Amino acid sequence: MAQEVRGVIAPGKDEPVRVETIVVPDPGPGEAVVQIQACGVCHTDLHYKQGGINDDFPFLLGHEASGVVESVGEGVTDVAPGDFVILNWRAVCGNCRACLRGRPWYCFNTHNAKQKMTLTDGTELSPALGIGAFADKTLVAAGQCTKVDPSVAPQVAGLLGCGVMAGIGAAINTGNVGRGDTVAVIGCGGVGDAAIAGSNLAGAARIIAVDIDDRKLETARTMGATHTVNSKDTDPIEAIRELTGGFGADVVIEAVGRPETYKQAFYARDLAGTVVLVGVPTPEMKLELPLLDVFGHGGSLKSSWYGDCLPSRDFPMLIDLHLQGRLDLGAFVTETIELTDVEKAFERMHQGDVLRSVVML
Ligand SMILES: NC(=O)c1ccc[n+]([C@@H]2O[C@H](COP(=O)([O-])OP(=O)(O)OC[C@H]3O[C@@H](n4cnc5c(N)ncnc54)[C@H](O)[C@@H]3O)[C@@H](O)[C@H]2O)c1
Ligand SMILES: [Zn+2]
Ligand SMILES: [Zn+2]
Repeated sequence: MAQEVRGVIAPGKDEPVRVETIVVPDPGPGEAVVQIQACGVCHTDLHYKQGGINDDFPFLLGHEASGVVESVGEGVTDVAPGDFVILNWRAVCGNCRACLRGRPWYCFNTHNAKQKMTLTDGTELSPALGIGAFADKTLVAAGQCTKVDPSVAPQVAGLLGCGVMAGIGAAINTGNVGRGDTVAVIGCGGVGDAAIAGSNLAGAARIIAVDIDDRKLETARTMGATHTVNSKDTDPIEAIRELTGGFGADVVIEAVGRPETYKQAFYARDLAGTVVLVGVPTPEMKLELPLLDVFGHGGSLKSSWYGDCLPSRDFPMLIDLHLQGRLDLGAFVTETIELTDVEKAFERMHQGDVLRSVVML
């Protein structure tokens, strides 16, 4: 029997979000229904609401979530009702070209639920990143459920489902940050701060945090930044060079998603250094660079999708590090809020007041 629960809908471009009754079907073959316990508010949810991702309104927002599996469909063996899971948007297929080449984090055919969740009038919903977890319950592909140690707090666990994993992975997996490296991170929201925490975990020698908001820079220090630069009043390229013996950083992570900050990242790295773009640009943005500079700087220009993570490998490992006191995931949770407060949380995010607001269900 399909169930009716509450969910947060983005009805149309730039319209305020609202709580509606949504219909969640019983899980079909390969699917699972998850009772959501916590779901963080990510900048990507705001991108969806603004029409910056695509036009498939109405969206069921929310995708940084943890919860308990309520029921599973036919053929599901990896998870069972009662399991505590983090939801992921990379349920790899195992059969596409990337998976077969042993690079499943690039999987081109990731699984989502086949059935649609709807409004009570039958309107089909597009779940954000194939998840849709600002809801009491959601329907996903069973592979989107990753079991982790249930002793972790749900509001902390959920964050690994997107932004925090994206940031840690941008440093560790995509940027290959290692012991002794110099790293600069441009944009210190949830994603950028996670890149700082990841660089710290990997043993980076210097971690330079860049933001235009002093409050963000203060938090960045607690995440492991050794130096901070407010790029509102200081040229970040010059500052990063100065802090790295005149060379530039080995790895610069762009966690804003804008052409001007990408350019800063490009020029703030050392010769043959690496740029990692983890911030998500919008369709109208353009980048212009002298091709000679691209050639002359060498190195690599990478993008990081979801921190090149493999949920089954990375989520349990990072939760264990957290439970051992070696990775403070709790520091990312600025506030816990109600399902009705998502619109307010977007405003607070926009004003830079929070790292993560987490909806508790
Ligand atoms: N690649 C991925 O897989 C992935 C996953 C999740 C989120 N993201 C993206 O990462 C980006 C950051 O997400 P978030 O949740 O941390 O957002 P956020 O809004 O919490 O943080 C953005 C930060 O950038 C700072 N900033 C804004 N303009 C700046 C500028 N010109 N120079 C320096 N700093 C500036 C803000 O002050 C803020 O601290 C977004 O674009 C989001 O969509 C990417
Ligand atoms: Zn695949
Ligand atoms: Zn996200």
